[in-house]
Amino acid sequence: MRTMCFLLGFTLLTVAACDKRTRTVEAPPDLAKTEEKIAAKFPTGQTANAGHDYHSYANSHEARVTHLSLQLTADFDQQILKGSAILSVDRVTPAADELVLDTRELDIQDVTVLDSSGKWRQTYYRLAETDPNLGAALYVDLPADATDLQVRIRYRTSPAASGLQWLTPAQTAGKQYPFLFTQSQAIHARSWIPLQDTPGVRMTYDAVVRTPPELLAVMSASNEPGTPRDGEYEFSMPQAIPSYLIALGVGDLESRPMGKRTAVYAEPSLLESAALEFADTEQMLETTERMYGPYRWGRYDLLILPPSFPFGGMENPRLSFITPTVIAGDKSLVSLIAHELAHSWSGNLVSNATWRDLWLNEGFTSYLESRIMEEIYGEGRAAMENVLGYQTVMQEIEELPEPEQLLAIDSQGKDPDDVFSSIPYTKGQLFLTWLEHKFGRERFDAFLNQYFEQFAFQSITTERFLEYLRENLLQSEPGVVDWGQIGRWVFEPGMPDEVIVPQSDAFIRVTEKSGAWLAGEVAAADIDTQIWTVHEWRFFLNNLPSRLSPEQLADLDEAFGLTESTNNEVAHSWLVIAVRNDYAPAYARLEDYLVSIGRRKLITPLYEELIKTDKGSDFAKRVYELARPGYHPLAVRTVNGILYGEDS
Ligand code: BES
Ligand code: ZN
Repeated sequence: MRTMCFLLGFTLLTVAACDKRTRTVEAPPDLAKTEEKIAAKFPTGQTANAGHDYHSYANSHEARVTHLSLQLTADFDQQILKGSAILSVDRVTPAADELVLDTRELDIQDVTVLDSSGKWRQTYYRLAETDPNLGAALYVDLPADATDLQVRIRYRTSPAASGLQWLTPAQTAGKQYPFLFTQSQAIHARSWIPLQDTPGVRMTYDAVVRTPPELLAVMSASNEPGTPRDGEYEFSMPQAIPSYLIALGVGDLESRPMGKRTAVYAEPSLLESAALEFADTEQMLETTERMYGPYRWGRYDLLILPPSFPFGGMENPRLSFITPTVIAGDKSLVSLIAHELAHSWSGNLVSNATWRDLWLNEGFTSYLESRIMEEIYGEGRAAMENVLGYQTVMQEIEELPEPEQLLAIDSQGKDPDDVFSSIPYTKGQLFLTWLEHKFGRERFDAFLNQYFEQFAFQSITTERFLEYLRENLLQSEPGVVDWGQIGRWVFEPGMPDEVIVPQSDAFIRVTEKSGAWLAGEVAAADIDTQIWTVHEWRFFLNNLPSRLSPEQLADLDEAFGLTESTNNEVAHSWLVIAVRNDYAPAYARLEDYLVSIGRRKLITPLYEELIKTDKGSDFAKRVYELARPGYHPLAVRTVNGILYGEDS
């Protein structure tokens, strides 16, 4: 009965109905009511149908890709990938006569299927019209006879592919060789591979990648440190993963071991500083295993990308992609590594089924990240990081439209990148922290362990998680948490009043000092900042009043050299203040910063602040023209939106 319920349980209503038959302990979940409430509150923004991926054309309920075999050549002159993808397909419904794939700006050369005599035979295919958010569906006729279905697509990518960035030698650290990297999450794998680009479909893969012989290729798959450079590289990923985790990097890369299972790949000039900065990676891996069960992926390596990488990090399995902007020299920003590593459990092992369920990846990962940081660097540091995260999410809640404040965000009709915020991250983390406090750390950890085990290598919906939570935690300790509280966390905007607000003693002391300075009682140079870490600096700067006098700005800058800060997070916080208060001495640094860094989180708040005045807007547009050739297509899209109110 239970299994039936889950098969049918695609909507909240059905889950609730199933529950009535199987309920043993407490009142049935009132999810149906919550859904009505959402619909009443947001009459125009209907709630999504749980489990339905609005961001893919794939017909995975009829025919499902189980394995991908890639053969690609990286052509740096034309800035294209060319080759073929062979898809192994399972008929889910025996009568399935068509395979529907996702593509974006792919030049399809031919589509063939393997016949029973082992020959590739042409098959009918049709590329549908392009949707600006989703790309174009590719319809492929499947032969009735073949049992072991294999479909081969020969294709080329576009130089403007949204998931690829081709860098000229000048845009790299070493300035001698070009660089290529992919970014598939959320829906960009389709811009470099024709496949079922939905996290609900998992596949194994193998690949042969050809590059100029002086470059090394690495993938989110088996990478052997010490692989000789010869321009032909083979990979295999034997664990089934969703398409958004398929990744490739090509460049003048070398590797250096950091531990038994961990190494870093980077351009030679960054290798040493990266290996020192991330030296705790192996310990993080061991700590996470101790807390949440075995690491299931073999090696865990890092790939350091050029500064145009649009994210802080990306959890590509076995090989996280990492921005160089966190190499600060003092390990102050390594929570990023804890985060990407934690995705090996929350995200890569148990994945979100659709982009509406992103909080299952990011909220759980932010929670695990904080637990890892606490374990390795102590409660004080984790507390500071949690306060900084809390302040960011509370500020975003002030500004975001209500439907985007739900944990389960409905992004139908939009590019999921356009509803990216800290809600799935920090509100998700705070939800889990609240559960931890309610049930106790030991009980909650046991629940999480069991959850990772239960859903290993599966993709699940928010509703499936809630059902599991109810059966395995709420019902085992009746009366601790009621279902209405869960519904409020997941399906209502804002932050529930019962949130456990993170506190940091160190920050209380910073507030005292900053108060004395603001009251004119002490000069900046007299503030005792000797023991301040990057976290105290960020808190201090982020919590100054939005308007400061020219004298106050100069006092701070002279005392602390903020304009010249080499820590990118500190520089970012300071530059936001500088723009807001039109502090002229920081503009040269700001220009340099915007041109040399392409990480979205570090540049978009600055552009947003700049366009608030005519002068700032002129500056932003001028600098953007210089910076744009170095930005990733995703960053270009975001900044275009800010400066010109357009998509591309
Ligand atoms: N998986 C995300 C990046 C992502 C999310 C890409 C959604 C595309 C769509 C990655 O794990 C991440 O969260 N990166 C953060 C790290 C931070 C929260 C520590 C980032 O890049 O800022
Ligand atoms: Zn993440």
